[in-house]
Amino acid sequence: METKYIKLEENFSPEALCEAGEIIKAGGLVAFPTETVYGLGGDGLNPDSSKKIYEAKGRPSDNPLIIHIAELKDLFSVTAEVSEKATSLAEAFWPGPLTMILKKSSSVPLETTGGLDTVAVRMPDNKIALEFIKQAGGFIAAPSANLSGRPSPTEASHVKEDMEGRIDMIIDGGTSTIGLESTIVDLTEDIPIILRPGYISMKSLSRVVGDVIYDPAILDADSDTAPRAPGMKYRHYAPKGDLSIVKGDKDKVIEYIRRQTEEALKEGERVGIIATEETYLNYNATVVENIGSRDDEATIARRLYAVLRDFDVENVNRIYSEEFNTPNMGQAIMNRLMKAAGHHIINLSEDK
Ligand code: TXA
Ligand code: MG
Repeated sequence: METKYIKLEENFSPEALCEAGEIIKAGGLVAFPTETVYGLGGDGLNPDSSKKIYEAKGRPSDNPLIIHIAELKDLFSVTAEVSEKATSLAEAFWPGPLTMILKKSSSVPLETTGGLDTVAVRMPDNKIALEFIKQAGGFIAAPSANLSGRPSPTEASHVKEDMEGRIDMIIDGGTSTIGLESTIVDLTEDIPIILRPGYISMKSLSRVVGDVIYDPAILDADSDTAPRAPGMKYRHYAPKGDLSIVKGDKDKVIEYIRRQTEEALKEGERVGIIATEETYLNYNATVVENIGSRDDEATIARRLYAVLRDFDVENVNRIYSEEFNTPNMGQAIMNRLMKAAGHHIINLSEDK
């Protein structure tokens, strides 16, 4: 299949998205930009489109898709009931990086929800995405536009790497402004449950709806209970090299990574390091990535997936990362990094 490629600027004209809309209505697939990461879109109400999405991504079909909408009224046609809390969250955070899990209506095929009787819905905060959704009929089912298991794409070039020849069109809308996937909140119980941490923090959610809890399975990797978001059980966001996260006192971390890197290089390995503005000059490796200042969590989040992909381009086979304890997005950043590392952590602090 030939994959068409269009690039849109800030002041694009709506007609530029006509063809993309027609492709979706005809059952095809189009990758599109959002503020979080690029999505791989199909018609969310067409079971065959959802099947195609799973195929193109190489994704297990029990892992449900998010339906993206462009207008609040459309929330009511894909859900069976919308609680007051859900309405308040939609009003507070949409368009934006918040996905809500609600009971689905009969118009949503089980192919889209991975067989569940609930549906994930989000309204992205990106002009191109919103116009594309409207022109495509209003309901775009979309996972992140990466091959299953790889880091999510934050640039059209990442989508090309993974999806060229597998989908009908890629819309290039520049770099994703947030760079990590949306916060997912389950609203099917009285107390909302965070199934995946993201840009919108627990604190921000609580300000609108009171008590909010985390799905215990996402806080504890050794937990026996399965995560409520099926996708959270898979190894994910992973570069090809083995990634370890090194925790502890800053000087000890630097010393440890330096020593390990030196030995690995001697043995002919290719080593990558994820460091910060404050620390990167301490390192000498095949690739040293300065991901940004420790105090600038927005930049760390935005660059994380691109950095992980760069290691693949450089054929790095061993990677060390420092830990990021930032105040708001720290949970989301570490959640992605830990999954990319297959939870391999080296803890150098005394009180383990
Ligand atoms: O920011 C985002 O959310 C991006 C952009 C493209 O919108 N999308 C995204 O989709 O991250 P995906 O498919 O990569 O991740 C969706 C997650 C998966 O972990 C899936 O298991 C979970 O949402 N999910 C979807 N529907 C669900 C449901 N009904 N119940 C529980 N979890 C659900
Ligand atoms: Mg994904």
